Amino acid sequence: TYVIAPPCVDVKDRACIDECPVDCIYEGQRMLYIHPDECVDCGACEPVCPVEAIYYEDDLPDQWSDYYQANIEFFDEIGSPGGAMKLGMIRKDHPIVAALPPQNG
Ligand code: F3S
Ligand code: F3S
Repeated sequence: TYVIAPPCVDVKDRACIDECPVDCIYEGQRMLYIHPDECVDCGACEPVCPVEAIYYEDDLPDQWSDYYQANIEFFDEIGSPGGAMKLGMIRKDHPIVAALPPQNG
């Protein structure tokens, strides 16, 4: 799967959403999260993020390794909706994101 990392926090450019052929990039309050089971590893989202927040799981920088689990655990209560657009913004974040101070780009 692909993973979204902290550069997305408080930025949420959303360019990635337009590229995803399976609508598996879900919006939380402060960042977006890629559904690990719905992502088909097409790679289309990764180059369009202006802040380089998106990585293939094996390429995630070490200092952001927690975000592999964060992108999984975000969906613990949500399950697999099969499409992000119909949900709109989900009013929560993973605890490691919620705990971050404001990120001012
Ligand atoms: Fe975030 Fe980059 Fe997408 S900032 S919303 S991962 S384009
Ligand atoms: Fe996955 Fe990104 Fe493609 S989230 S399905 S690799 S656009």
